[in-house]
Amino acid sequence: MFSRRYVVKFSAAAPVAAALGTLLMQRCELIQANSPEVAHFHVPLPIPPVLRPVRSDDEADYYEITQREAQVEILPGLHTTVWGYEGIFPGPTIKARHGRTTVIRHLNRLAIPTVVHLHGGATPSESDGFPTELQIPDGHPSYVLQSAMCDVTPSSSDPGHGDRSRSSNSTRTYVYPNKQRAATLWYHDHAMGFNGRNIYMGLAGLYLIEDEEEAALPLPRGICDIPLMLFMRTFGADGALVYNSVGHTGAQGDVMLVNGAPWPRLEVARRKYRFRILNASNATTFRLALSSGKPLVQIATDGGLLPEPVTSPSIPLAMAERVEVVIDFAEYSSGSTLVLQNLEMAGVLGKIMRFDVTGPEVHDDSSVPQRLATMTALRPEAAVRTREFRFGGITAFNMPPVAWAINGNRFDPCRVDAAPRLGDTEIWHFYNSPSRFHSRIHPPHIHLVQFQILERNGKAPYSHETGWKDTLRLEPGEDARVIMRFGGYKGRYILHCHNLEHEDYEMMARFDVV
Ligand code: C2O
Ligand code: CU
Ligand code: CU
Repeated sequence: MFSRRYVVKFSAAAPVAAALGTLLMQRCELIQANSPEVAHFHVPLPIPPVLRPVRSDDEADYYEITQREAQVEILPGLHTTVWGYEGIFPGPTIKARHGRTTVIRHLNRLAIPTVVHLHGGATPSESDGFPTELQIPDGHPSYVLQSAMCDVTPSSSDPGHGDRSRSSNSTRTYVYPNKQRAATLWYHDHAMGFNGRNIYMGLAGLYLIEDEEEAALPLPRGICDIPLMLFMRTFGADGALVYNSVGHTGAQGDVMLVNGAPWPRLEVARRKYRFRILNASNATTFRLALSSGKPLVQIATDGGLLPEPVTSPSIPLAMAERVEVVIDFAEYSSGSTLVLQNLEMAGVLGKIMRFDVTGPEVHDDSSVPQRLATMTALRPEAAVRTREFRFGGITAFNMPPVAWAINGNRFDPCRVDAAPRLGDTEIWHFYNSPSRFHSRIHPPHIHLVQFQILERNGKAPYSHETGWKDTLRLEPGEDARVIMRFGGYKGRYILHCHNLEHEDYEMMARFDVV
């Protein structure tokens, strides 16, 4: 019941919202959204700026980010208030190099408590953004909450990191060692109970790790290496973001944003491009495909390059998953257009953005090699144990779910639900356990580690998910066995559903690496 207390203290409106949420969960499968009309394929695709370090030394690059409110133009002619890293949405991109530490000092100038998590990062516990380790803005009335928070920090062997006073102010420094392979990661808010709202309001940005193995490949690079962050949003007539958790079934929307722009267009030359695609939506799933009907050539997944490219007619993408594809526009004539589609939606939401092919065929020395990376398969025999995690709803009196849960438990930051030993290899068996009253997609996500999928529904995983993963899509009734090694760091971490409204309400569990 910890979080109930927590929510109540945080906002007087929370109990009402919680009650309403329960009510809505019973009533509303879909709330009709009506954002202002936007012309499609009109706004040029923005690319989030790469943040410059404030200083660098032999081992590390040091950054400063201010989380603040800002007015931006998302829908042409209208102003939208966002909560942004550096006041922009999406936040600035951080570029990191394997083996070189990134140190980011975050200042919270918002009106609400926040905490930053690097999704996909192998991060020491004290920098991982545990949902109660909040950065409280100066003058915020709820600072007293710190005393109510669970104080067991198993990683406090280092006294410098166990100091709770660090988190009771508006500034926090996060340290990312980047001892992991090249990959497209992202950083986003992780405040307990309000994560869905905070990310919806803009608190998300990309974090790219580069390494030598990848740099040696002839893949498209520079301005031909383009991130696409997909966000589904709803706007009011005045341009304001309208957040509706839909009774904690998940915030949907009726405007497709890519890198913060509605249904944008990108002029491309007749050559190859690499696209790093992240589903940064709260609760919208995708199945990516090209309107030309040509297959997608996938080179990477959540945890970086696949061993070899995978060609598929379409690629499903749940919340927080990443795929990287290479599209060769030399196959199209100048003047042709092609649309990146979401086959899971009809009408305008079935379209994501448009590529406008221009100019003559250009010299292109990039290519997609048949061998991309080495990947050693983790052997099931190496696993010291198997744990089961069932993702479902808590129902009472044959009513729709009153909360989301893992193994029947709501999140309690003080309860340790699994305690793998440092260095151990384990198998985690995830189940999406629907009932007559709730049947939803749940994408389980594990902090700290990248895993390999051993089995999906008793069979081999899909070809698009054969690389390193940190999030996987589970349809109602599906199950998957994943294997990973808990290397790196001791301390407390979490595992949760990446439908952000499920996570907030409270499909999340704590695990401690001991
Ligand atoms: Cu995208 Cu707990 O994270
Ligand atoms: Cu994460
Ligand atoms: Cu879920």
